[in-house]
Amino acid sequence: MPKQRKILVTSALPYANGSIHLGHMLEYIQTDIWVRFQRSRGHEVWFVWADDAHGTPIMLRAQQEGISPEELIEKMNLEHQQDFTDFGVSYDNFSSTHSDYNREMVESIYTRLKDAGYITARTITQLYDEEEGMFLPDRFIRGTCPKCGAADQYGDNCESCGAHYASTELIEPRSVVSGSRPVLRESEHYFFKLTEFEDELKEWLNSGAMQPEVVNKLAEWFEDGLRDWDISRDAPYFGFEIPDAPGKYFYVWVDAPMGYASSFRELCDREGLDFDEWWGADSKTELYHFIGKDIVYFHTLFWPAELSGAGMRKPTAVYAHGFLTVDGAKMSKSRGTFIQARTYLNHLNPDYLRYYFAAKLSNGLADIDLNLEDFTLRVNSDLVGKVVNIASRTAGFINKRFEGLLSESLPDPQLYAKFITASEEIAADFESRNFQSAIRRIMAMADHANRYIDEHKPWQMIKQDGREAEVQAVCTQGLNMFRVLVTWLAPVIPTTTELAAGFLGTPVNHWAAISEPLLSHKINSFTPLLTRVEADKVAAMVDASKENLQATDTVNQTQIENNGDNKNMEIEALADEITIDDFLAVDLRVAKILSAEAVEGADKLLCLKLDIGNQQRQVFAGIKAAYKPEDLVGRLTVMVANLKSRKMRFGVSEGMVLAAGPGGEEIYILSPDSGAVPGQRIK
Ligand code: 2FM
Ligand code: ZN
Repeated sequence: MPKQRKILVTSALPYANGSIHLGHMLEYIQTDIWVRFQRSRGHEVWFVWADDAHGTPIMLRAQQEGISPEELIEKMNLEHQQDFTDFGVSYDNFSSTHSDYNREMVESIYTRLKDAGYITARTITQLYDEEEGMFLPDRFIRGTCPKCGAADQYGDNCESCGAHYASTELIEPRSVVSGSRPVLRESEHYFFKLTEFEDELKEWLNSGAMQPEVVNKLAEWFEDGLRDWDISRDAPYFGFEIPDAPGKYFYVWVDAPMGYASSFRELCDREGLDFDEWWGADSKTELYHFIGKDIVYFHTLFWPAELSGAGMRKPTAVYAHGFLTVDGAKMSKSRGTFIQARTYLNHLNPDYLRYYFAAKLSNGLADIDLNLEDFTLRVNSDLVGKVVNIASRTAGFINKRFEGLLSESLPDPQLYAKFITASEEIAADFESRNFQSAIRRIMAMADHANRYIDEHKPWQMIKQDGREAEVQAVCTQGLNMFRVLVTWLAPVIPTTTELAAGFLGTPVNHWAAISEPLLSHKINSFTPLLTRVEADKVAAMVDASKENLQATDTVNQTQIENNGDNKNMEIEALADEITIDDFLAVDLRVAKILSAEAVEGADKLLCLKLDIGNQQRQVFAGIKAAYKPEDLVGRLTVMVANLKSRKMRFGVSEGMVLAAGPGGEEIYILSPDSGAVPGQRIK
């Protein structure tokens, strides 16, 4: 028996001021698949989270609705939990950060941090709305950009020129809340000394458990230098008041992650678990946070540092995922692709979406696209056409001809053994959150099973005298392969799995159980386990989403009041894996820059003439802000030589030069080491 692990898993806490949409569901489904997988492997697993109930936007939303924040968050909590349950999310506790458990947790962690000397007070100057009597978060201030003069820009950065600045630098600032002109006002704030944890955080991050993209991004953040973190906000604020600091509240991002721990403590009281065994500094249990890539900064710097400072354990790992797009673009209310969980559930079976997400999720940070046409085709061809089909092609014979009884032995034990062999690779994929790969393997095995039935044709055999026992055996083989497939898919499609368990007359969510086939076993009558996705239902869901135009988008709440504390929100994800053939399809050549000139009428472009041995190429490259043309002449670089030519406003661009960096002045073109010769191919 492998050792039983003790695993605590969380999803990020949704804000309590809006409904759950499919972007949220991507994360909860990812988490739930992993949780269900670990349970099916026999481990002790707990899945807890909560509503993120504090902060300025929630306070203002309640004001708008004419109810108290408590009423608002209570109502949303019920709605959220109903959505999760109906999507088959198997959580153990869902709480709220506005609970007594969390208040105690926050006060106790804060007091320990303060006693250990990790809290310091400093006076800062901020914009203040005198009409509303409140300090304004950056996103609640608009004005003219101090760098380029564009009107109506946010208090932290300009959407026109991309400049970052302090809200106090805005020209003609005005409050988004009251429209009045804010004034400067001083206030004492509390700061958490993040900088003291730098070495420890570096060591933790390099433990090997974190995703490489996250580790790389953090290396950049360390290079930029850590700063102490402003953890207080002034009244009025919907949150917890800081002990011994009347009128000062904990910033929502302080008490939100602590909600992971307090929700678990609530569970401990209910289930009789020992909180310290799980959260004590030398805990031997595992702790994983599943989050979106926009909140990595909070989870990999502030949160582990706070835990450590308070004498608690750090997470085993933090797993980030990419964002959800629908039909290749950001979810959009006008196109009907901003789909709420409830709207989906009103039209479609949750297992469809769970399966589709699983088929697309890897363990990287790439964005996931829900292409609605592909969704329909994929679910119909895989789940209905391949998996459920095996049962519908075989069950009828067993039920009608053999009173539901499976045969005593398998006619093709080698084929069954092949399934058992595949099982460990599939488990490794689930373990490493490479669901996409697991699904690929499972579907390949479903193809084997269907081929077996195609070859043996029980529907013909049954018409031939004396072949009854063979029919029973072939269908027993088919149903056993079906059972294995469903066991593998159980973490992904729980609703269908339950129906399959009822039909097979045995549970199908214990990974180890499949090592023994089901023989001389009585099955129940077969009812269709899953019907096809109907395109008109998908269309109706999109239509219904168009009606949701008033729904609140909660996506940007962190941005609204983070006051610059959430750095570089977007981590560039590693692209999908490619084969060596894909790579070799790109013809990369060493190129010598013969000339470089500014392009009239183009702000960012330089026109480069390149020598690639036997040919010359003209390439327009967006590197003007980073290089003086004369510095480039004579340099070697690398170009994609077989990129289709593109006609641009200024001429034809015949390839692309390779460069790295975020853009603007920060672009670095690639150069080969000396010795490389123009025209040489890079492989
Ligand atoms: O970004 C968000 O939606 C936050 N509500 C996530 C909080 S996760 C945790 F730290 F509490
Ligand atoms: Zn600007």
